[in-house]
Amino acid sequence: KIIILDFGSQTTQLIARRLRELNEYCEILPYNKFPTQTDDIKGVILSGSPFSVYDPTAFKTDLSSIRGNFPVLGICYGAQFMAFTSGGNVESAGTREYGRANLSFIDPNDALLKGIEAGSQIWMSHGDSITKIPATFKKIASTDDVELAAFHIEGEQTWGVQFHPEVFHTIDGTTILDNFLSICGCSKEWSPASFVESTVAELKKQLGDDKVVLALSGGVDSSVAAVLLNKAIGKNLTCVFVDHGLLRKNEFENVMRDYEHLGLNVIGVNVKERFYKALAGVSDPEQKRKIIGSGFIDVFDEEAHKIKDVKWLAQGTIYPDIIESLSITGTVIKSHHNVGGLPEKMNLKLCEPLRLLFKDEVRKVGTQLGMMHHLIKRQPFPGPGLAVRILGDITAEKVRILQEADDIFINGLREWNLYDMVWQAGVILLPVQSVGVMGDERTYENAVALRAVTSTDAMTADWAQLPYEFLAKMSNEIINKVKGVNRVVYDISSKPPATIEWE
Ligand code: XMP
Repeated sequence: KIIILDFGSQTTQLIARRLRELNEYCEILPYNKFPTQTDDIKGVILSGSPFSVYDPTAFKTDLSSIRGNFPVLGICYGAQFMAFTSGGNVESAGTREYGRANLSFIDPNDALLKGIEAGSQIWMSHGDSITKIPATFKKIASTDDVELAAFHIEGEQTWGVQFHPEVFHTIDGTTILDNFLSICGCSKEWSPASFVESTVAELKKQLGDDKVVLALSGGVDSSVAAVLLNKAIGKNLTCVFVDHGLLRKNEFENVMRDYEHLGLNVIGVNVKERFYKALAGVSDPEQKRKIIGSGFIDVFDEEAHKIKDVKWLAQGTIYPDIIESLSITGTVIKSHHNVGGLPEKMNLKLCEPLRLLFKDEVRKVGTQLGMMHHLIKRQPFPGPGLAVRILGDITAEKVRILQEADDIFINGLREWNLYDMVWQAGVILLPVQSVGVMGDERTYENAVALRAVTSTDAMTADWAQLPYEFLAKMSNEIINKVKGVNRVVYDISSKPPATIEWE
């Protein structure tokens, strides 16, 4: 595998994505956390950083046990850091350089730049430049503005590039990273099939005859984790799926059926009434989330205690949930967790078989495991479910109205082949009544908002430009079929400044 040492660049995750696309396994670690166990490490990449190398607060680490022992590629700050700490000069460029540039000179014999021709477009993003390199450093590429755009250190398998090979606009970036993998002697054998094979073997070894409990949510990640574990330890896995009464219409029954079909041992727990009771009269969004979060932990805890000798808690945590991110305001390392608090309270060991995968890789693994398309392609759905889509307090009647409207919208998206084009969609029940007329009668009923967004990671999102014809049909069907709704609006706000959910 390749280790990417993260100096805080916004594109560090992209480096990992590119290597994974080349079928090489890699891990991102904080810049100062190079592992002591190095048997399976084939090479090291140093990322960019928002800092200047001469900044007293810049992230610094000792590379003496890395350089010379492994092939190294420094990107932007990573390259500057090596030049600076080896006696070169790095200076503020005067003019910052962001955006497109072209490599006007390329050393044709260099292994990193093999197959790339002069003129190749690259992407620059730097305020500083390397202005002088030590004698052992050899220039291997330049642009018109930046003479030292890339270097190789003689006598070492070490390279530095000022530009960003990981970004889309560096046209030959993937070739450069692929060349680096060849230099490292990587086997590039990551595939969903090999992942399933090696993970099942590891889980068997790790878990032995121990019993494991897993909380299913109906979503992609926990479902794939469950099927993988089921393949490894079979009957020793118990899954718990909680119906808090805030799922979509018929979702509990449908998902339970899917799980049975997949051969999972699932305990379905219907605790709707308990949740409605706890939520009665509560309208503050954060309060609602807290009640649902702690209610969920209580139910899960009760169910887990019924399993004799259970030792492990399995979760569908994925890579973006756990990447240790560097705080740029200090050197604090934060770590994100999926269901924080659960294992501590329950005294269980944690098993997270998907923790190093990106979402699309989880979907590929699910397909490899033979899981149904509709389960794998499921849109994200918030843990507190419809509770955050009923603005204000929650009642069973409001849940019914929202479930009906949401069901029409989601089925409509599927029928019109729009479902897979949208990142996430749903309906919001507004705390607004308005006057309407149905037949000869005056009505005074609820308004609902339809929400559909496009996104790649939920960090930013745009409202989906759904066809008017489709929206007209949805509005018509919802008002005609859902008792209690007489007005439908479409949310045309992007994130930011709005968010995907309304609460
Ligand atoms: P926002 O509304 O912040 O949502 O743009 C981003 C993504 O997160 C989901 N979301 C939640 N998921 N618990 C969850 O598990 C929550 O409390 C929660 N709030 C928002 C939202 O559906 C979207 O995918």
